[in-house]
Formats: sequence, structure tokens, C-alpha cells
Amino acid sequence: MAENKRKQKKTPRGGERPRTDRNSRNKKRTDRPGPFLAPVPPVMVSCGDMEESNIITIAWTGIINSDPPMTYISVRKSRHSHDIIQRTGEFVINLVTEELAPAADYCGVRSGAEHDKFREMKLTKVPSDELAAPMIGESPVNLECRVFEVRELPSHDMFLAEIVASHIDSSCVEDSGAFRFDRMGLAGYSHGFYYRMGRKPIGRFGFSVMKPKTRKRYRAEGKR
Ligand SMILES: Cc1cc2nc3c(=O)[nH]c(=O)nc-3n(C[C@H](O)[C@H](O)[C@H](O)COP(=O)(O)O)c2cc1C
Repeated sequence: MAENKRKQKKTPRGGERPRTDRNSRNKKRTDRPGPFLAPVPPVMVSCGDMEESNIITIAWTGIINSDPPMTYISVRKSRHSHDIIQRTGEFVINLVTEELAPAADYCGVRSGAEHDKFREMKLTKVPSDELAAPMIGESPVNLECRVFEVRELPSHDMFLAEIVASHIDSSCVEDSGAFRFDRMGLAGYSHGFYYRMGRKPIGRFGFSVMKPKTRKRYRAEGKR
């Protein structure tokens, strides 16, 4: 009964809370429509130039095209970085490791309007190949991004960008050219908490349909 009362309460957005009994086969709690996608990568986005730069932590990001590689970041208009990226049309996505998580958190709760986050977090500015924006030296992966469209959405502006150069820590690339993202100690972000991603993969791409002889061959070749 109490549960029913709670379900019928108005949501923060003023809509009626959907009830689970509309669909008897749905055993889950039906909640307000929310951005319940997890885990997501928390990334540190650097912008500006080598002299005047800033870092903003972003969770609303992803890959939207493979070839050419394209990405997006969604940034509220109120962020100091929003104006910088709008003006320069470029930014760098820097992946966050467990070690970098405190800096990522700091860059997500302090504004560049009052803070020099590179200096305060003792992060190294490394010149990009294609952009004026600096990369973060301590991050194992840096993606140089050039904005090609800005999509105004109700709460955020979505900067759609092409990845024009990528840099990967050489200790995470094997002689064969294989990427070892598992060696990076990357962090994930899930509804208010940072996590370290597990080192042991559940399986490789296509493992659910892999033939036993292929699996055997991979093992014999020392592949994961
Ligand atoms: C884990 C995490 C994820 C965040 N994701 C976003 C995001 O996707 N978009 C956004 O506009 N702000 C996001 N923020 C908030 C900004 O990082 C924060 O407001 C920051 O202080 C803005 O810095 P700036 O004013 O120097 O640009 C996030 C913060 C944290 C801690």
C-alpha cells in the first residue's frame, strides 16, 4: 500500500509516476524516464590553448561514427568550458585512470572561471598534433577532436566532433599493434560513483559464437 502511494507521487518533473501494474509481466520498478545508462566513461576534456587552458569532467560522451571516427560531448551552457569550446571549436578527450580519478572529480566540481585546474592538479600540458588545445600527459589515451556541429538540446549543448588524432600510451600497445586497454586501469562512472574497471575480460568480441577450435587456436597463440 505504502509502495503504491509512493509510486503515485508526482515526479520532480511534475509528471505522473508510471505504475508497474500497467504491465503485469514487468517485475521491475518503473521509474521516471532518466539517463540510466551505466557505466559510462568519465573523461577529462581539455580545451583552450597551451597558455589559457581548462579541464572539464564529462560523463555524457560516446562514439557516434567509426569511419571517420566521430564523438560528442554534451556540455551545459553554464560551464566555463562551454564558451571556450564554442569559440575554439575543438577539445581533447583524455581517458581517466584510477590514479587520475581524484583529479577528474576535482575538474568536475570546480570551475575554470576561478581555478587553474592543470596547475592545481599538477597535470602536464602536452601540445596536441592538430589542435591548439593541450592534452593531459598523465592520461593514457588522448583524442584530439574538432567540432563540426553544435546541437542545442534542452539542458545541454551537444558538441559533435571528428576525432582527428589519437594518442595511446606505448606501454599499452603490444609489438603486434594490439591495444591493451586492460593495462590502463581505466575508471568507469556509474550514478555518482567512480569504479575501476575489472582487468579480466569476460570474453573477447564474438566469444558467444566462437568455435572451440578457434578458442583453442587463440590459446595456443597466447592470445586472450
Ligand atoms: C563525473 C562527472 C561527470 C560530469 N559530466 C558532465 C557532463 O557530461 N556535462 C556537463 O556539462 N557537466 C558535467 N559535469 C559537471 C562539470 O564537470 C562541472 O560543472 C565543472 O566544474 C565545470 O567546469 P568548468 O566550469 O571549468 O567548465 C560532470 C561532473 C562530474 C564530477
